[in-house]
Amino acid sequence: TRSSEDDDLPHATKKKMADHLRKYEALFTLTPQRMRMIVEAFKESLETGLAKNEQIVPMIPTYVFGWPSGNETGDYLAVDLGGTNLRVCLVTLQGGGKFEITQSKYRLSEEQKQEDGQKLFDFCAECLKAFIDSYIDDGTIKAGTRLPLGFTFSYPCAQKSIDHGQLIRWTKGFGAPNTEGHDVVEMFRRSLEKQNVPAEIVALTCDTTGTLIASHYVNPKTRIACIFGTGCNAAYMERVGDIPKIKHLGIPDDEEMAINCEWGAFDSFEHENLPRTKYDQIIDETSNKPGEQAFEKLISGRYLGEILRLIICELIDEGVLFLGQNTYKIEIPYSFDTAFLSLMESDPTDELLMIIGIFSHFFALETTLAERQFFRALAKLVGRRAARLSACGIAAIVSKKGYLEEGCMVGADGSLYNKYPGFAERIHEGLHDIFGEKGRNVVTYHAEDGSGIGSAIVAAMTKQRKLAGRY
Ligand code: GLC
Repeated sequence: TRSSEDDDLPHATKKKMADHLRKYEALFTLTPQRMRMIVEAFKESLETGLAKNEQIVPMIPTYVFGWPSGNETGDYLAVDLGGTNLRVCLVTLQGGGKFEITQSKYRLSEEQKQEDGQKLFDFCAECLKAFIDSYIDDGTIKAGTRLPLGFTFSYPCAQKSIDHGQLIRWTKGFGAPNTEGHDVVEMFRRSLEKQNVPAEIVALTCDTTGTLIASHYVNPKTRIACIFGTGCNAAYMERVGDIPKIKHLGIPDDEEMAINCEWGAFDSFEHENLPRTKYDQIIDETSNKPGEQAFEKLISGRYLGEILRLIICELIDEGVLFLGQNTYKIEIPYSFDTAFLSLMESDPTDELLMIIGIFSHFFALETTLAERQFFRALAKLVGRRAARLSACGIAAIVSKKGYLEEGCMVGADGSLYNKYPGFAERIHEGLHDIFGEKGRNVVTYHAEDGSGIGSAIVAAMTKQRKLAGRY
């Protein structure tokens, strides 16, 4: 179906759009061969990160030793400081892979992300206190108890033990001063003490590590966990003997430890391996951390909408789009949410009514059908590239660990994975392109809530290890 308005669009403009689309297709499409090259470089980066400290992909030893037994039990608090929200949870582990969880969620303002770090932790402590008080009031938590707390802090932290973590650098647009280089557990503990919150931090985890552990708790075939949300990262279990940089600790080689890869940093600074377009470069250069998180900036929810917006703005400048309309709203950086891409791709109507709505409601712009089809095609290119690059990261771990033959499950979470239509299918298609038929042995699935449940399980595992007098 063609709309009548569509016929109003000059033929020359339509042709220009078709030409542009071809250009973008060439820029954003990853061939299987290119993907395999990325996988090889990725594998090397993973190895380098395991061998030495302070590498581009930090491959952080998490001090989470081995898999959960599934029989961890007890009540735990979890505080999850993510890229977009703060969550506080009460988790009851019931054993046998079962659990219950209740939670409250608070949205973080852009200002909070840039305010002094201690203030940010004060806010976390305040929310936790209100949460605990409400459960003391209704009798769920006994007054006077001090519950163990798992702190999920999803930014790269160098750890010396399970309850320590020095923030290497903020990611995902955070910039709170006086935090990088500091022990975030110590900072949060200070805030808890200041406000007399009856909770004891026993473990610090990243969302990926939590997801790895929580997914394995219910699905023991899980070997890798990934987050595709505001940021993008993975964790997996490594043999201690294969982590040369911690040899000096004297932990037996055969023990296993979860590694928080922080793979979002892959190809940072040097930019030798990833197919960056000029839009990706603009995002990087105008970000608060130029050069950093090169892989994440091509994939994660924080940036995908912005990539599309930059393309649209370029076409506005060239006079291809929205001639005669006021485009100031769409010219505001980061005004185009990644959720719009999801909606655009999932619009089921012939006329693409949802896309009409997005442009008119949020940007006061009128669109023709041809334009809407063009935007949808662009969204697909950007979303598909993100999923195929994600497949490269997964493939690198699978290949490094030799999981291809026997196959493995990958627990995945995050708004992109959960809400972006076709994201998982495109990852699977990417794995197939990289590995051929055997790629089908690697299967991603929607993981358990790692930042809440995972964090609680890690806290429980830590308690058990301590009781047993182990490292
Ligand atoms: C960013 C963080 C990382 C986190 C990921 C997903 O990459 O640095 O720690 O796991 O986002 O939230």
